Amino acid sequence: MLRMGFDIGGTTIKGGLVDDDLKLVSRVDRPTPFGDAGLLCDSICAMADELTRGTDPCRIAGVTVPGSVSRDGEIIDAWNIGLRNIPIRRMLEEKLDAETVIVKNDADAACCAELRIGALQGVKTGLMLTLGTGVGGSIIIDGKLFHGGLDRGTELGHAMINRGGAVCGCGHRGCIETLCSASALKRLAQKACQERKGMIYSLSERGEAHDAKLLIDCARKGDSMAVQLFDEYTDVLSDAIASFVNILDPQVIVIGGGVSGAGDFLTERLKAKVPPRTFFGSCGSIVAAQAGNDAGIIGAVME
Ligand code: BGC
Repeated sequence: MLRMGFDIGGTTIKGGLVDDDLKLVSRVDRPTPFGDAGLLCDSICAMADELTRGTDPCRIAGVTVPGSVSRDGEIIDAWNIGLRNIPIRRMLEEKLDAETVIVKNDADAACCAELRIGALQGVKTGLMLTLGTGVGGSIIIDGKLFHGGLDRGTELGHAMINRGGAVCGCGHRGCIETLCSASALKRLAQKACQERKGMIYSLSERGEAHDAKLLIDCARKGDSMAVQLFDEYTDVLSDAIASFVNILDPQVIVIGGGVSGAGDFLTERLKAKVPPRTFFGSCGSIVAAQAGNDAGIIGAVME
């Protein structure tokens, strides 16, 4: 039986049909409308029509949101798509041709996918951080996703690490997200471009987007400035992870989101930097996410 999944990101909604083996059988994308829940639901319905053209309607639809979601499927706060206190599940239940609509946080969906088909299979206590536009975080306890004591999930990216630091999208200052997201890396790359320094600047002059990927690519190629910036970034990220290790003592720490595309180049640094920063002087394994780029869509449809 096919299910349809929609992974709402800051810029794009990724949609797909997922089969019983959790394989993606088709894909569509649409831009994410900002600050308009009605338009968002309309876009998802249009994508559902496109996906199910010529197939039977799907009984189950899953949607991920880049923000906090209550157990009953209400968006509590997804500032990066401009939505607060929106009963999105109820709205979609009315509009979508599906019997069940599941709504969950995007990091939780990615974490569910890792639990079933990725790096968290069989893990009892685990931690996942997704490093993208924002920083998402999910916790596995007793082999299950932890939804928070008040059913609002966990917002690890908004743990404060830098008192008085930069203002975060959530309105507070100094959140982990301000320093550890792909957006933070992008800001470092932009600064290098403004200062007209190093390989980041020369490649961006040749038309490459000055984003997190450019900074990582330049660091991989050994450009000293990019390496220094990436080292500073992984220092702060390691501080954040070490704090979570002290709280949870996870067996496995999974890094997902766009930055995890750096693979070993990232995880080798974290493996060297996190243990000495922890209370114990050691930690569980640190690995990049394994469920792939479409983990959000797949995780969305899991009950
Ligand atoms: C939001 C999280 C979300 C993360 C990744 C953060 O800013 O607060 O709920 O999981 O971004 O999209």
